[in-house]
Amino acid sequence: MDNFVLNDGVEIPAIGLGTWQSSRPDAYAAVRAAVDCGYRHVDTAYVYENEDAVGKAVKDSKIRRGDIFLTTKLPSDVKDFKGAKEYCDRSLKALDTDYIDLYLIHAPWPWSAAGTDCSEGNVEVWRAMSELKKEGKIRSMGVSNFNGADIDNLIKNVGIVPSVNQIRFFIGNTQEKITEYCQKAGILVEAYSPLGTGKILENQTICGIAEKYGVPIAKLCIKFCIQRGTLPLPKSVTPERIKDNISGLDFTISDGDMAELNALQNLYPRPFRT
Ligand code: A2P
Repeated sequence: MDNFVLNDGVEIPAIGLGTWQSSRPDAYAAVRAAVDCGYRHVDTAYVYENEDAVGKAVKDSKIRRGDIFLTTKLPSDVKDFKGAKEYCDRSLKALDTDYIDLYLIHAPWPWSAAGTDCSEGNVEVWRAMSELKKEGKIRSMGVSNFNGADIDNLIKNVGIVPSVNQIRFFIGNTQEKITEYCQKAGILVEAYSPLGTGKILENQTICGIAEKYGVPIAKLCIKFCIQRGTLPLPKSVTPERIKDNISGLDFTISDGDMAELNALQNLYPRPFRT
């Protein structure tokens, strides 16, 4: 599997397994299946309540810890220095590991107060994360669901550019403004919900283009993210799908078809900004 190199020099495998909305037993089985078929990158979060299952699956897979890339996230309602450090320790314990490869601020605001101004709190937790990095508890630091102003605030006040911004990104929801901002600034865009949580898999335009390439629609969606320079995190708890989502990606969507897919906008928008 190919790697991206983050702006801090850390390498990250170019596809990861998403585990949002996977129960503990499902997450355990999914990670075991994923590692067996070649995934070396798993994405979780404290609030998914499955970090312990992910950590156990990694341990049980007998893969060397250094050969697996683990991402987890600081809960979005933790916006203070001490809390950030405490929650990182909780995640380390749950994952049963000495370090997290990539630690993200889950959102610029608590989900219950989406859109509110938490710029001071974000600066505090960003400072805490820079300490965690110095302490060796995390290798890379990033954000999720941030817009340009949210990121500017971190850079201006702490002087550290995030390595990653993980955003909701799929055909018909490509968030051009923040995607362009990140790609120009050397911040890797990770695509969560690259299949639109399954909702775009019946879209007629996307189905038609997938048919042209003789690939399942999910594969076209994943390849679209890759060709847009993002890192897809497809979620599945089904072993055949997990395997399918990482294989047979050596085809190229033509410029014309990419243009048609890029023109699909506002498929399943969220009611609040990211
Ligand atoms: P399941 O987990 O039951 O296999 P996203 O990655 O955008 O969040 O989408 C996840 C959803 O898409 C889940 O419902 C998942 O179902 C489904 N899914 C994942 N991979 C595939 C695939 N290859 N074909 C069809 N559905 C898939």
